[in-house]
Amino acid sequence: MLKEKMEKAFNDQINKELYSSYLYLSMCAYAQSKGMPGVANWMKIQAQEELTHANKFFDYVLERGGKVMLKAIDAVPVEFGTVIEMFEKVQEHEQFVTASINNLADISYEISDHASRSLLLWFIDEQVEEEANVMQILDQLRMVEGKGQGLFLIDKDLATRVFVDPTQPKAI
Ligand SMILES: [Fe+2]
Repeated sequence: MLKEKMEKAFNDQINKELYSSYLYLSMCAYAQSKGMPGVANWMKIQAQEELTHANKFFDYVLERGGKVMLKAIDAVPVEFGTVIEMFEKVQEHEQFVTASINNLADISYEISDHASRSLLLWFIDEQVEEEANVMQILDQLRMVEGKGQGLFLIDKDLATRVFVDPTQPKAI
């Protein structure tokens, strides 16, 4: 059985993952309204990925005989400034999520919950990837000052992103 402290932390994390999905969906709408369909596509897929994260925690809590407690999801912003500012917000948010997952890992060590520790190692790796992806996009956007032909090409590139469920084994 999951210990109460761990169970509560996982429930909080489910809420954060759902909030993340909500946040990226809002960024998707904003990008679309600003004439950046590629950025909108990237955000939509990001939102889908966050749902898979929430589901992975959700399934795990149930698997361990824990209680899932879904709480209200906070409202998200609707304005995100320039495209560079928007991706800076994505980066900040992912850093916040990484800190939160590290905190979960700390709890699993503290209470010697090895099964949770194993699950969290997956998320720790996933966050490295998330942060690296955003950093790469931000670097490119800054290179072209987030405008003009450069932005047009980056937007085209982001339009090619397709959804791959990161929680499922990779096809070989
Ligand atoms: Fe996530």
